[in-house]
Amino acid sequence: MTVETKNITKLFGKQKALNNVSFQIKKGELVGFLGPNGAGKSTMMKIITGYLPFDLGEVFINNQKISSENIEIRKSIGYLPEQNPLYTDLYVKEFLEITAGFYKLKNKKQRVAEMVGLTGLGDEQHKKIRALSKGYRQRVGLAQALIHDPSVLILDEPTTGLDPNQLEEIRTLIREISKEKTVMLSSHIMQEVEAICNRVIIINKGEIVADGRIEDIKSGSVIRSQVVVAEFSSTINREQLLSIENIKNATQLGNIWEIESDNKQDIRPAIFQFAVENKLILLTLQEKQQNLENVFHQLTQR
Ligand SMILES: Nc1ncnc2c1ncn2[C@@H]1O[C@H](COP(=O)(O)OP(=O)(O)O)[C@@H](O)[C@H]1O
Ligand SMILES: [Mg+2]
Repeated sequence: MTVETKNITKLFGKQKALNNVSFQIKKGELVGFLGPNGAGKSTMMKIITGYLPFDLGEVFINNQKISSENIEIRKSIGYLPEQNPLYTDLYVKEFLEITAGFYKLKNKKQRVAEMVGLTGLGDEQHKKIRALSKGYRQRVGLAQALIHDPSVLILDEPTTGLDPNQLEEIRTLIREISKEKTVMLSSHIMQEVEAICNRVIIINKGEIVADGRIEDIKSGSVIRSQVVVAEFSSTINREQLLSIENIKNATQLGNIWEIESDNKQDIRPAIFQFAVENKLILLTLQEKQQNLENVFHQLTQR
């Protein structure tokens, strides 16, 4: 096990930013940490990297417990914080050399050159950070996070604010890096996680609501409801639909209704029966195909 959290709870005053959060990430995994803004992603990542104290629970990195005394463990973690705060007055190379110095690396110059090569900063290494585009600043952030060769990499929203070309370049770089490291990256955009990771942990309001392979989550097996698309030839009202047994919600999109069950059972027979009893003509009645986006919305809208 490379990253393990056990029942982490974090309070900000009276607010529970994290409530009993537990998960395990194995060596070599590339895991997406997905949730809407304010879900608790950055808070969890600061806790894993040892930058933020927590109220209850335990965190283990490479089976070693994180605590305020055990700061040695930070050497095995690379961290790209949200919004990637960099010293913009410094030159790229200078900044990386200072970072290498912070970790007391012996082969400083060589290590910086390797990171410049790995992250494709060759042409930019003699520029000031403030002169770089957002995509290149992210590369500097990644180089900084990787310079001490950590086995675990924690990336907080590494692709936010990039244009489509930069996005693809950074994604490729992350995939490349992940071949040799355990990587956890956060995002509030499901397509992002889908494009990079094969496993996703979804967090909402400080609680884990799903954890599994993206294919499994997309299949809908983690959600406890079914969504059916129904089209009637005449107008009906929402109250009528909600009176059907086991129906929790109904949303109208033009003539079409999206009807959600309150448990996993198939509600199509009941909807068909409802149409017959009310002499309504049903034009369409089918289960909605789930994709990660649907599942994400269902898991996080509450
Ligand atoms: N230093 C802080 N003081 C008070 N509340 C905070 C602090 N940091 C985060 N929060 C709150 O904790 C919740 C989770 O925040 P955060 O972890 O930043 O979410 P995310 O990264 O998923 O957008 C939010 O409601 C946020 O306002
Ligand atoms: Mg955040």
